[in-house]
Amino acid sequence: MKTNHLIDLNALPVKEWDKLIASALAIRENPQSYYGAAEGKILATLFFEPSTRTQMSFQTAMLRLGGRIIGFDNPSGSSVSKGENLNDTIRVVSSYSDILVMRHPLEGSSLAGAISSSCPVINAGDGGHLHPTQTLTDLVTLAAYRGRLTNLKIGLCGDLKNGRTVHSLVRALSLYAGNEFVCISTENLGLPEYLKKEAEENRARISYQSSLEEAIGELDILYMTRIQRERFSSPEEYERERTVYLLDSEKLAHAKEDLMILHPLPRVDEIEMAVDRDPRAMYFDQALCGVYARMALILYMLDSNANCMAGGFGKASETVCPNGRCITNHEKYLPKYAKQKGHALLCSYCETQLEG
Ligand code: NCD
Repeated sequence: MKTNHLIDLNALPVKEWDKLIASALAIRENPQSYYGAAEGKILATLFFEPSTRTQMSFQTAMLRLGGRIIGFDNPSGSSVSKGENLNDTIRVVSSYSDILVMRHPLEGSSLAGAISSSCPVINAGDGGHLHPTQTLTDLVTLAAYRGRLTNLKIGLCGDLKNGRTVHSLVRALSLYAGNEFVCISTENLGLPEYLKKEAEENRARISYQSSLEEAIGELDILYMTRIQRERFSSPEEYERERTVYLLDSEKLAHAKEDLMILHPLPRVDEIEMAVDRDPRAMYFDQALCGVYARMALILYMLDSNANCMAGGFGKASETVCPNGRCITNHEKYLPKYAKQKGHALLCSYCETQLEG
């Protein structure tokens, strides 16, 4: 079983991220010179959940490196619709490819994929859990346009509970010195407790604000996010949250001259389109940085010396994960694994605390 999978950026030491960022910046300077670097290699993109940027930026990245792509963006056109389990799909597709990129609506699905795969797996979003390659994109964007990843005051606004891009970003940026997060959300959509704790343990400062208007003036970075409709249990609940935060020109008038507005996209109701004309709106540049970040990552993963999961899967466990959206509660054949974090025992797949 190979362990060179990218499930969580934090399984890699920060110095490796810095290498990846430097490589993405070099590619950005001179993309043509990398053509052919992945010649003869095949990248599979298995998207069990919708995507525009993540899927197409991976495909663009591989094509720009001279490699080839296979995959699906709608499992209804694959044998998944006939009832095939994740293990069988991944076993087969990984035997056809050199890297497998997967997105799936259930938490922990990428680790499940990694267990069945004979080639490296990259997590392109596992339910509301993590999205490491968006974070790599965000880090590359900050490095390219702000020139540093330290001493930043970062406002995180919107659905901090279900937004996996925010989860991965908090984890990553809290490891760089002097960063401070301002969480701007309603009470229902706050950052999960385990991430708050983790960021504080890494000595990042966290504060809370319910008003975007009041918070905006102090920020260096404003990371806007969409309210994640597909992760709500009822349409009414979603409607209550949908329009709480709107970034418009009026609010921007109170922001710093050099604020950077980021958004993983898709944007729905949370940024007025007029804001796109403001030079502080960087989200389309951010989406392009995603191609360079993924070109760097593909080259890194193809390097047989890379070892992105030195910690392995954790230890065998008997405990059923209490998270109904964890892959282990849907693909019942999966072996259970647990890992220790501080005093807590967590499900290795989705990182929910295990009872008992
Ligand atoms: C995000 C995702 O899928 O988590 N999009 C992306 O990958 N760029 C954000 C979102 O869907 O809101």
